Amino acid sequence: MRSSTFPPGILLGIFIARAACGETFDYIIAGAGTCGLVLANRLSADPNIRVAVIEPGEDVRSNVNVTNPALFTVAYGTSIDWQYSTTPQPAASNRTIPWHAGKAIGGTSTINGTQCVRVLIKGMTYIRGDKPQFDAWERLGNEGWNWESLYPYFKKIEKFTVPSTAQTAAGATYDADIHGETGHVHTGFPFSLVNGSFHGLAADTWDALGYPLNEDVNSGSVRGFSTWPQTLDRDRNLRFDAARSYYYAVEDRKNLRLIRGTVKRITWARSSAAGQPAVADGVEYVTTNGELNAVTAAEVILSAGALRSPLILESSGVGNPSLSTSLLNSLGIETKIELPGVGEYLQEQPNTILAYSSTLNLSGSTPYATFSTAQDMFGDETSSIETSTLARIPGWAKKVAAASNGAVEAANVEKLFRVQHDLIFKQNVTLGETLTAVTGGYFYSAMWLLLPFSWGSVHLTSAEAIDAPAIDPKYFFVDFDANVQVSLGRLAQKFWHTKPVSDFVGGSVLPPDGVLPLNATDEQWTSYIGDTLMPNHHPIGTASMMSRELGGVVDSKLRVYGTKNVRVVDGSILPLQFSGHLTATLYAVAERAAELIFEAARYE
Ligand SMILES: Cc1cc2nc3c(=O)[nH]c(=O)nc-3n(C[C@H](O)[C@H](O)[C@H](O)COP(=O)(O)OP(=O)(O)OC[C@H]3O[C@@H](n4cnc5c(N)ncnc54)[C@H](O)[C@@H]3O)c2cc1C
Ligand SMILES: *[C@@H]1O[C@H](CO)[C@@H](O)[C@H](O)[C@H]1NC(C)=O
Ligand SMILES: *[C@@H]1O[C@H](CO)[C@@H](O)[C@H](O)[C@H]1NC(C)=O
Ligand SMILES: *[C@@H]1O[C@H](CO)[C@@H](O)[C@H](O)[C@H]1NC(C)=O
Ligand SMILES: *[C@@H]1O[C@H](CO)[C@@H](O)[C@H](O)[C@H]1NC(C)=O
Ligand SMILES: *[C@@H]1O[C@H](CO)[C@@H](O)[C@H](O)[C@H]1NC(C)=O
Ligand SMILES: *[C@@H]1O[C@H](CO)[C@@H](O)[C@H](O)[C@H]1NC(C)=O
Ligand SMILES: *[C@@H]1O[C@H](CO)[C@@H](O)[C@H](O)[C@H]1NC(C)=O
Repeated sequence: MRSSTFPPGILLGIFIARAACGETFDYIIAGAGTCGLVLANRLSADPNIRVAVIEPGEDVRSNVNVTNPALFTVAYGTSIDWQYSTTPQPAASNRTIPWHAGKAIGGTSTINGTQCVRVLIKGMTYIRGDKPQFDAWERLGNEGWNWESLYPYFKKIEKFTVPSTAQTAAGATYDADIHGETGHVHTGFPFSLVNGSFHGLAADTWDALGYPLNEDVNSGSVRGFSTWPQTLDRDRNLRFDAARSYYYAVEDRKNLRLIRGTVKRITWARSSAAGQPAVADGVEYVTTNGELNAVTAAEVILSAGALRSPLILESSGVGNPSLSTSLLNSLGIETKIELPGVGEYLQEQPNTILAYSSTLNLSGSTPYATFSTAQDMFGDETSSIETSTLARIPGWAKKVAAASNGAVEAANVEKLFRVQHDLIFKQNVTLGETLTAVTGGYFYSAMWLLLPFSWGSVHLTSAEAIDAPAIDPKYFFVDFDANVQVSLGRLAQKFWHTKPVSDFVGGSVLPPDGVLPLNATDEQWTSYIGDTLMPNHHPIGTASMMSRELGGVVDSKLRVYGTKNVRVVDGSILPLQFSGHLTATLYAVAERAAELIFEAARYE
């Protein structure tokens, strides 16, 4: 590795040698995924800017498992799924839980395939979140990041198809004003919406439980029961993943190169020293033949996803030198930049399913979501729970910090938890999401806690294991999270036992009848939830956008602290969980990032 002790002439020599044998670009983007392809499209719009995207996954444009909305589960477990798993989870019977992520041009937006029922009811979801959750980013010190500033990008990305009369009759509701019409990502409702009589049953039952119809879940307030749009081109019956939205139309640009390979590490032209930031000059990557290759660039952008961008940072010497789990020292990786937050603050949600037999025989899509606030879930107990949880935050923060082997400080975690507590109990953002579905002779609910206090980590385990992240979501590490998940389970159970829908419900199928009777104890619920929980596949926070003091990894221009020209633009940078599905927000973040990058280039 070169260091700052080389005289400039030698540095320049190396730079030229690299450029001559490889290629040189203005921007290298690691990962042709959801965010990476937005950047590839926007940055290469200027023909004078040379952009390379490096991606290990394949071209899937003619893979029917990806394109056909009717094929729900098939991509799962194939070559386009990374097929990770978690570390053993104590709250889930010590299981190592399978975890899916897209390995393809288009990234995770191309798969959406886990377990059959899960995918039938959750896929291509386009939901933004609650306004105060985005405003919280600014409260954490990220100037210019709030709902107001993201809103134009939410609209910019979208090409919304107004539902037909038949779709409206089947329950599709919307507010046209809040959707974009000219963006790259098609959104809308599928023609296959289930008969409106079921929508009526679901809406009336949720209403009986105190959940009003929310006309459009994408307004910045998600509370209530609503029908959500999907990322699809309704009329062509085509899924709109990131490649279809942002890449295929521009792939012939002469200044845009897609290189097949896996980025291993950033190469440094200059280490950080004497207050000067480190300067990257490119990346090393492993080709599909297993060879090590290098390319140079003026700037490196990591868009490998929340489970992988931190690993690239760690193998480049950016992370926590003393942390045994990050192994920077023991792996023989020289620390270039001390940033203990790398790979920490992982916030993931637990997903639980209930199923019942149905006396209706219905088929079709049911993009139905119900979002609950703490008040909805806890009723009269809300204010006592507000007080008791506030009192316990310092303890939770200590516990989370201790489990990070000192990577994060309890005082910082406490500050972040207080912001989340304020969002839940003062700003009244939603805390739980419940999907309601029907297929053939079965009814389903899938539910998850949205804002966990159980924060985990993702790290490299060895210098060579760049494809094998150690993913520890630490499900239910903080017991409040398990209590919320139990409340959500009880709410779903209550739904199927409430009129009018209850007239059509037979016995319980998942779990089998008798396992969770109406009088089931918290212990029975916790045990079912632990035995069956699955990832919700919404990992964020592992290269968090917040101040360096708080444990942040990137600044509000998405630049990695201590570097001059390395950015992270993907799920890693989202600092706090929110009541949405990630892609709507990630597309908006990447669009805004492209503008910030152009702006920065103009002033340098
Ligand atoms: C099964 C499933 C269902 C989901 N359903 C929905 C949904 O319905 N709605 C929704 O909004 N969100 C959903 N999500 C979440 C959403 O898809 C992801 O959060 C989002 O796509 C992540 O975008 P990203 O840009 O951060 O990363 P990704 O899209 O994952 O892109 C990362 C890319 O980087 C590549 N890569 C990895 N390592 C390297 C490396 N070392 N070098 C170069 N490239 C690398 C990967 O192959 C991948 O192509 C789902 C996720 C899953 C797994
Ligand atoms: C599609 O999925 C099926 C089932 O998982 C698999 O056998 C097949 O190889 C996949 N097709 C492609 C093109 O990947
Ligand atoms: C999980 O593993 C830990 C450590 O091996 C053990 O202490 C614990 O009892 C196990 N828990 C369960 C539920 O099996
Ligand atoms: C997966 O979901 C994303 C986000 O909603 C969407 O863009 C994409 O089209 C979906 N892909 C598949 C194969 O379902
Ligand atoms: C929906 O179901 C009702 C009752 O079974 C039926 O009368 C109606 O025609 C159906 N509507 C559509 C659009 O299929
Ligand atoms: C349910 O409906 C489908 C077609 O709509 C039919 O093929 C199937 O036999 C029905 N099942 C039952 C149990 O009635
Ligand atoms: C949150 O809900 C409480 C209780 O219903 C109410 O008093 C308060 O005004 C609400 N706050 C906001 C910001 O909506
Ligand atoms: C629930 O009710 C059933 C039958 O009424 C009873 O046998 C069982 O003990 C009860 N369980 C609990 C936990 O109270």
